[in-house]
Amino acid sequence: MSELRVLAVASEIYPIVKTGGLADVVGALPTALQAYGIETRTLVPGYPDVIKALAVAEEFLHVPEFFGGPARLLGRVHGNLNLLVLDAPHLFARPGNPYVTPDGKDWPDNGVRFAALSKMASEIGQGAIPSFVPDVVHAHDWQAGLAPAYLHLAHQRRPATVMTVHNLAYQGKFPHHMLDVFGLPRESFSIHGVEYYGMISFLKAGLQFSDRITTVSPTYAREIQTSEGGMGLGGLLRERSQVLSGILNGIDISVWNPETDRDIAARFSATELDPRAANKLALQRRFGLDPSPNALLLGVVSRLSWQKGLDILLENLPTILGEGMQLVLLGSGEADLQHAYQAAAKAHPGRIAVLIGYDEAVAHLIQAGADALVVPSRFEPCGLTQLCALRYGAVPIVSQVGGLSDTVIDVGEAGGAATGLKFGPVTADALAGALQRANILWHDQQAWRRLQYNGLSTDVSWRSRASRYAALYRDVVAARRNQ
Ligand code: ADP
Ligand code: GLC
Repeated sequence: MSELRVLAVASEIYPIVKTGGLADVVGALPTALQAYGIETRTLVPGYPDVIKALAVAEEFLHVPEFFGGPARLLGRVHGNLNLLVLDAPHLFARPGNPYVTPDGKDWPDNGVRFAALSKMASEIGQGAIPSFVPDVVHAHDWQAGLAPAYLHLAHQRRPATVMTVHNLAYQGKFPHHMLDVFGLPRESFSIHGVEYYGMISFLKAGLQFSDRITTVSPTYAREIQTSEGGMGLGGLLRERSQVLSGILNGIDISVWNPETDRDIAARFSATELDPRAANKLALQRRFGLDPSPNALLLGVVSRLSWQKGLDILLENLPTILGEGMQLVLLGSGEADLQHAYQAAAKAHPGRIAVLIGYDEAVAHLIQAGADALVVPSRFEPCGLTQLCALRYGAVPIVSQVGGLSDTVIDVGEAGGAATGLKFGPVTADALAGALQRANILWHDQQAWRRLQYNGLSTDVSWRSRASRYAALYRDVVAARRNQ
């Protein structure tokens, strides 16, 4: 099997910069792909944390003027990752969240910042680093969406391109007068180009001009071709359905390993679940919850945004309290939701606990100590927390959408093989039903154990899922060679 070279392009990468699951995927996939003869280098922006992580780096390029200032392209191996870094201080030397200002607004020059990232990807695609000329440029989400567009519009010899949608809700839209600043040709501003309802959309550009489109679950691949799930791009995605596929995400099972996890109170395994009880107690103590082993302890680890449906869970506080359950929530995001959950915790100490913020160690403890993990998303391209839950013996209670549908098996679907509970439609009533069903199962110890063991024996790793990407890369490279 010949080696293939892939340039991945993304705006975040675990463990250096992360705001969500995108970083996890971009950080884990390259290692998993090695087993299939794929060599990946990942181009990321030179945020302060990235530059710090590089220490001594190789300088591949120096460009005196690149989108408004000088830029360098640096390279360095970091752990398992082979990174290429766009060091452009005028665009990326800003601490904190990669996309928003300290007071929470999008950086006004986000278009320029991520056009620059994509442009650098296209230059690497066209041979800017002679020692690494990729066979495939793989763009992740809108921030990398212009990369396939630049490559296509250059009308030169180019690598194959793949665009992966991790979340169709973020489309990277900018005013059309930015066309020249982005270095896009006038004729590209059309319905068959980068134009989107009078604006320029980076995601649309990527979807329009890439050779292949993927998204992160088969169900989401179908949902985004409908008018509701398509969020304005359904028509284009239907037109391109021949090149669109859904490949499920995995998780890094060395980062998420209950046998070696240092963030939890007691380590356990797929065959030895009893120590989990100590994690539940540690979690209850850490959050001031009543140390009751009998109350079904629900966990949530999530961004607090409309997508995640946590307002629907909030409506179910009476169910949770009435059924004698407990809830621990770790998350941050929309101010209204943060305040509402904090108020609930204050009103029901011992029963409801909330930590507003981002804390990986606590996320691990919740997965290891909660009895169930609730993910009531309105839409979910894949979702990773339910995969972590399966691996950690927390029974997932999820809405029947996107990747949640594809990764959890409900009791009603396959009794003996079930791994969790699913509910639909995404309403407070349907969630109440699922919570009540869960509580009945919880009080049948054998039934609950079976759910846990089924979850623990589910393969949530990248191994087989990475092989799908490897096959896709080989296929698209062969198709381009034959053109
Ligand atoms: P999304 O990318 O839409 O936020 P995913 O489920 O794909 O959702 O990925 C979320 C990732 O971020 C998971 O690795 C999850 O553990 C992590 N995460 C989310 N919120 C927090 C938090 N408040 N603290 C720690 N980790 C979090
Ligand atoms: C997005 C989606 C999430 C998915 C993640 C990684 O953030 O919201 O469902 O798991 O990307 O693909």
